[in-house]
Amino acid sequence: MSFIPELYQETIELLRSDVADLEIVLADEVVSNVKVVQQVLSHTREAGGKRLRPALLMVAAKAIGKSFDRERALRIGAVLEMVHMATLLHDDVIDDADTRRSRPTAARVFGNTAAILSGDVLLARAMASLADDGDLAVIRTVSKAVVEMAEGEAREVETRSNFELSLDEHYEILRLKTATLVECCCRLGAILAEATPEQREGLASFGHHIGLAFQIIDDILDYRGEQDRTGKPFATDFREGCATLPLILLKEHLNTEELDFAASKFGATVVEDELRMIVSWMEQRGAFAATEEIARDHVNQAIAALAPLPRCKERDVLETFAHFVLQRDQ
Ligand code: IPE
Ligand code: IPE
Ligand code: MG
Ligand code: MG
Repeated sequence: MSFIPELYQETIELLRSDVADLEIVLADEVVSNVKVVQQVLSHTREAGGKRLRPALLMVAAKAIGKSFDRERALRIGAVLEMVHMATLLHDDVIDDADTRRSRPTAARVFGNTAAILSGDVLLARAMASLADDGDLAVIRTVSKAVVEMAEGEAREVETRSNFELSLDEHYEILRLKTATLVECCCRLGAILAEATPEQREGLASFGHHIGLAFQIIDDILDYRGEQDRTGKPFATDFREGCATLPLILLKEHLNTEELDFAASKFGATVVEDELRMIVSWMEQRGAFAATEEIARDHVNQAIAALAPLPRCKERDVLETFAHFVLQRDQ
């Protein structure tokens, strides 16, 4: 599994067979009879990705320490990955992105229409799979997350090119577009393993904070990441007029002239050298460091939320996940 760096050997061992089996379920589920849809789906699935959401569901379920239906957890994990893939297909159209998972985006290869419709097929297949499972609590939990993700993306579009975006508005977008699904994965793990209400809410809170930290670090990587590690283009957020924490926190360290300059380039035509200069301000004036501090705070809150869980290897793995979120470069 590519999302865990080499130093987490124990974690890799714990999840190796789950992830291999998850790929088999995905290969079965991520299909269509329509040729172009099948091409988009294969392109997306075969590009890989960290498979973080199903992995989190599985570890969360194991961390409860009771027996649970592993096959079912894999099927529902696949549903979560399908929801995630569908939102990435749509997101790359919305963000006009060139690359994803180190490959040209499906929208670039097959066109926006094919990418959007394939995302719709994938979402509907995910919901059909949940209907087959038949558990209303699971269906409600996932449906709520899907609604909120779409609303989060819509809120982000609504606030595009708003250089004055407030912190509160920004956090709400992060919660909706990313944290909700990660929270959903952890909550489902708890539901599948018949956790106590206290454990369930603890795991949900863990997912919420990890999800926020994950997106916050993603937003740093957008400016500072190595493209051959992230597999995504440089500074899409600035080019597309998405205000994220590195920019929001930088603003208070800019003089009027610099502010006017940054505002005039935000979501507008901007050349590489100008972008590099803005990124160097983020570095030198502490905006990246302050952003990392906020992510670290969420990671600490996530780990604290695990208190109701029994002490076990899987709980340690969840903590490792939390630290990984801060250290990741892909
Ligand atoms: C990308 O998610 C979208 C965000 C929420 C930042 P991942 O970083 O989990 O993407 P893959 O699945 O590993 O490509
Ligand atoms: C990811 O959002 C999509 C969702 C979370 C729905 P971003 O646009 O911030 O993420 P990347 O950088 O394209 O993966
Ligand atoms: Mg994007
Ligand atoms: Mg986006």
